[in-house]
Amino acid sequence: MNPLVIAPSILSADFARLAEETRSVQTAGAEWIHFDVMDGHFVPNLTFGPAVLDGLNKSVPAFYDVHLMVTDPLEYGKRFAKAGANLVSFHLEAAMDPGAVIDGLKAVNVQVGLVINPGRSPEEMFPYLDRLDLVLVMSVWAGFGGQSFQDAAPARVEILAREIARRGLKTRLQVDGGINAKTSRLVRDAGADTLVAGTSVFGAADRAAAIASLRA
Ligand code: DX5
Ligand code: ZN
Repeated sequence: MNPLVIAPSILSADFARLAEETRSVQTAGAEWIHFDVMDGHFVPNLTFGPAVLDGLNKSVPAFYDVHLMVTDPLEYGKRFAKAGANLVSFHLEAAMDPGAVIDGLKAVNVQVGLVINPGRSPEEMFPYLDRLDLVLVMSVWAGFGGQSFQDAAPARVEILAREIARRGLKTRLQVDGGINAKTSRLVRDAGADTLVAGTSVFGAADRAAAIASLRA
């Protein structure tokens, strides 16, 4: 199994102090930085563009895990790769031809992840598993931070964990939405190795303790 990675979502950071906030979770022990991109179309919310990632990456070098919630994942995925993304994940729901998006992103040398919202069955990811660096199971509906974890998530994670193990793949299994000390345990037991957490890390007085509690 892959070593556990904690990826705090800067969606919950103070946007006026983005560099400082990013550095603070790095210092607190986070391996990756989760960068939520929303286009006001695929989801109603609107967040950051590639120029923000480019600036942030120059001032705070990190592994940037870009979660695209946009209707044109190939076009924007390439732009984020150029701006310093290490991994770009896109929604199965947003791609007419997910295989073509995977190929297009691989061609610009970025790691690739595929995401499903709670409405999709995990089996729909199976045809793409061998070509992916990561699969992301949303434990809330994509669009906003601060929602409650959906209890159906661990069973969905387990379906993918079994298939990844059965094929002997190294594909990471990520969960995003409502992750805290308690729900972290549930999804890790189900086989998740990469955890996104917004509110529970950025909202904590002691961020190092919050990150440690996700690993406990
Ligand atoms: C939701 C985003 C999440 C969100 C997680 O659309 O993809 O990354 O920021 O935030 P919390 O941990 O607060 O649910
Ligand atoms: Zn996210």
